[in-house]
Amino acid sequence: MNLDMDITDRSVTEYINSKYKPPYEKLAPFRNLGERDRIPIIRKETESVLTMLLDLTHPKKIFEIGTAIGYSTAFFAMSCPDAEVVSVEKDEYAFRAAQLNMKNAGVDDRVRLYLGDGQEIADRLREEGEHDFDMVFIDAGKSHYRRFLDSVLEIVSDEALIVSDNILEHGMTASDDYDPKNKHKTNILNMRAYINHLMRDRRFRTTLMSVGDGLAVTRFRRYPDE
Ligand SMILES: C[S@@+](CC[C@H](N)C(=O)[O-])C[C@H]1O[C@@H](n2cnc3c(N)ncnc32)[C@H](O)[C@@H]1O
Repeated sequence: MNLDMDITDRSVTEYINSKYKPPYEKLAPFRNLGERDRIPIIRKETESVLTMLLDLTHPKKIFEIGTAIGYSTAFFAMSCPDAEVVSVEKDEYAFRAAQLNMKNAGVDDRVRLYLGDGQEIADRLREEGEHDFDMVFIDAGKSHYRRFLDSVLEIVSDEALIVSDNILEHGMTASDDYDPKNKHKTNILNMRAYINHLMRDRRFRTTLMSVGDGLAVTRFRRYPDE
């Protein structure tokens, strides 16, 4: 696998991104920092799709798994000034950096950061009676999306929007040709099973997009009898 490989024609992506404008002034230096330190923050084209989804759905309570240094977390908080954002990161160093970055971005009053595993924190929030997250962004360990999702469904509203990033894994999800030595087989099989679940379960309506490293946009619907 070539980790620099784009799943779409590079010149097309470059053209699209040439139209990108940072939606908020404070985000520009933050993005530069992430890109300089090669921290895998959401790509510009992914951010653009998320902006549109947020504009259309106006979420009030957002749950994110995979904070890293908090770029997307700050982006969610700035895009939705009435929303509360909860984000989980398992790496302590990144978590500490994110705490500082939320203060610097001026959104720390609406952002709650947790250090730990995404599923474990979702379970803890459920036990504490938290619910009604109307938007979820899953952007963490690629092999674990299914267990993240199962726990998240316990704390979301009846018609939540769930966005999963990096689902195409540099093309490997689509074709074994991109993993000739089978080094990522487990990841790939887990991601394919996750996507099949999103496509087959009647509670989900999902569109798969070749944006960034692949995006699954899912509308969840809870049925009263389930
Ligand atoms: C792609 S980065 C997140 C980027 C961030 N969402 C952004 O766009 O600015 C993925 C992050 O998920 C974290 N992570 C991986 N497995 C995790 C888990 N089980 N629970 C919580 N965070 C996890 C990694 O440490 C890493 O910082």
